[in-house]
Amino acid sequence: MEGWILYKQRQSEISTDKYEMNRFLEVAEKRGLSLKILCPEQFDLLVNRDDNKSIIVDNQYTQLPQFLLPRQGASTPYFSLAVIRHLERLGVNTFNSSRSIETVKDKLYTQQILAAHNFPVPRTMLARYPLNIQLIKDTIGFPIVVKTISGSQGSGVFLCETPDNLEDLMRLIDTAKPLANFIIQEFIKSSKGRDLRVFVVGGRVIACMERTSRDGSFKANFSRGGEVRAFPVSKEIEQLVTECAGVLNLDITGIDLLFDGESFKVCEVNSSPGFKGIESCCDVSIPDTIFDFIQIRLGLYS
Ligand SMILES: Nc1ncnc2c1ncn2[C@@H]1O[C@H](COP(=O)(O)OP(=O)(O)O)[C@@H](O)[C@H]1O
Ligand SMILES: [Mg+2]
Repeated sequence: MEGWILYKQRQSEISTDKYEMNRFLEVAEKRGLSLKILCPEQFDLLVNRDDNKSIIVDNQYTQLPQFLLPRQGASTPYFSLAVIRHLERLGVNTFNSSRSIETVKDKLYTQQILAAHNFPVPRTMLARYPLNIQLIKDTIGFPIVVKTISGSQGSGVFLCETPDNLEDLMRLIDTAKPLANFIIQEFIKSSKGRDLRVFVVGGRVIACMERTSRDGSFKANFSRGGEVRAFPVSKEIEQLVTECAGVLNLDITGIDLLFDGESFKVCEVNSSPGFKGIESCCDVSIPDTIFDFIQIRLGLYS
């Protein structure tokens, strides 16, 4: 089996601290799978009507792989999406598809789709300028969470306890990036500083962990130093996340769930989730699970 990973860096540039990339390479080698990591800048996209079986990589016509694993997640730029679409057009199986990556890159669009399918989601609105604070008070209520449309690792997520906090943040946004798009979301209090990350591959829950912030922040991201521990997968969690992955057409996904009393709300859906945290607390090899799934999808299971 031969596959490519599309990543922000070329293979020769990948340092030992890039946990996921190193894990994929290590597991691929162990399994006798030929795996290459390529970055978008290595591709030239020649569009024509021929049924080509090759693509230009590093200025050379190169045979297509059997599968592509895009791994740029929320920061997938236009050029990468074009590369993924091009490979899809040439018949390469991509996990995930360009369409699902593009959908979940947009946190508002994701919430719109989930809400339309009756999933429990926090009340969310798109910021409109000038901001109508009274409307936000009436419809969402303070405290609120402000998020960039696209983002990861908690970097574009802020808590505003009061309308004054929101106005301060607005002034900052107005200076740094006027008219920037962002979303305003109900703060789920019972999830302050803790949430669940559930890893789903091929419609099955592979692992589930609870994340707890250690520095008093309301954000529980592992990359921000959140503490992780394995968490039992109830029927409710299983149903919620597998349905969610299905509706968004994601073969591989990490879904963030907020604790809402005894129940859950879907916080965010990731198309190329990191897995250092989850492998550290759950007995699972994520690359093996992904390669097993791809083998089945490609009809190559021995
Ligand atoms: N509406 C919310 N209520 C409570 N906590 C939230 C809410 N939204 C996000 N968080 C916290 O902030 C973290 C980061 O938010 P998230 O939307 O997942 O952004 P990112 O893509 O940066 O991970 C979440 O893991 C959760 O701990
Ligand atoms: Mg998240």
